Amino acid sequence: MNIITFANHKGGVGKTTTVANIGYALAHRYKKRVLMIDMDPQTNLTSHFGIYERPEHTMYEVLKGASTISEAIMSLSQNLHLLPSSLDVTNIEAELQGITGREFILREALDSIQDYDAILIDTPPSLGVLTVNAFTASTDVCIVVQTEFFALQGLAKLYEIISIVQKRTNPQLTISGVIATMFDKRKGMHCEALQALEERFSGELFPTQISEAIALVEAASAGKSIFDYKPTSKAAEQYDEIAKAIVKKIIR
Ligand SMILES: Nc1ncnc2c1ncn2[C@@H]1O[C@H](COP(=O)(O)OP(=O)(O)OP(=O)(O)O)[C@@H](O)[C@H]1O
Ligand SMILES: [Mg+2]
Repeated sequence: MNIITFANHKGGVGKTTTVANIGYALAHRYKKRVLMIDMDPQTNLTSHFGIYERPEHTMYEVLKGASTISEAIMSLSQNLHLLPSSLDVTNIEAELQGITGREFILREALDSIQDYDAILIDTPPSLGVLTVNAFTASTDVCIVVQTEFFALQGLAKLYEIISIVQKRTNPQLTISGVIATMFDKRKGMHCEALQALEERFSGELFPTQISEAIALVEAASAGKSIFDYKPTSKAAEQYDEIAKAIVKKIIR
């Protein structure tokens, strides 16, 4: 079973949008059993699926050991499940301070979960204990980058954390993909950024980019995936292609 963390500590690059739409495509178009995990106290992945009220059991209770993971998992459809987050996950960093083995909490919680083809984890824009828990529990990382001038800047820090995790808590962790988002081929700056990404990540960069698309913003605010909101859009086609590549390259 592949557990894939979608990461970039830079905010607003499209991590949540990517997890929501790839999760949906894997479940509904490729018939995989998928669990999406919202590790972000901003709860954007949770609200992307129309859940606005705090569920009784969330990531917060799971990390505190107050709920089992099965109690917190919500079924969105037969093949697509969600472990929701909540605002109080903000306090987790402070509450887990000094607790031995705090990097392993999610991995231990996931030990009891076997019946998925893929687990996708959405992380917050930081490299703190939540993201380290996600990396420690994962088999794979997909880096999500916005095709803009500063795309590569800051990725060194992400690499540093991933290599510390590989050394100390999870030697199996592999960087399996890089997804370029918010691409506008009419903008010279975006093309230059894409070229820099191709040079830097030749093997890992998915050949399909996600275009800049207002439909993705609208779908999120409607609490739907792009496949339900605008199935004929370019963005739906692009996320479908990346999901297909993930099935081929990562989930197997
Ligand atoms: N391809 C796209 N084109 C246009 N807008 C997009 C695209 N992808 C995402 N967005 C919008 O950009 C904003 C940021 O996207 P998203 O929330 O997915 O990023 P994120 O990396 O998860 O952010 P954070 O780091 O805050 O969690 C959202 O309003 C989203 O709807
Ligand atoms: Mg997000």
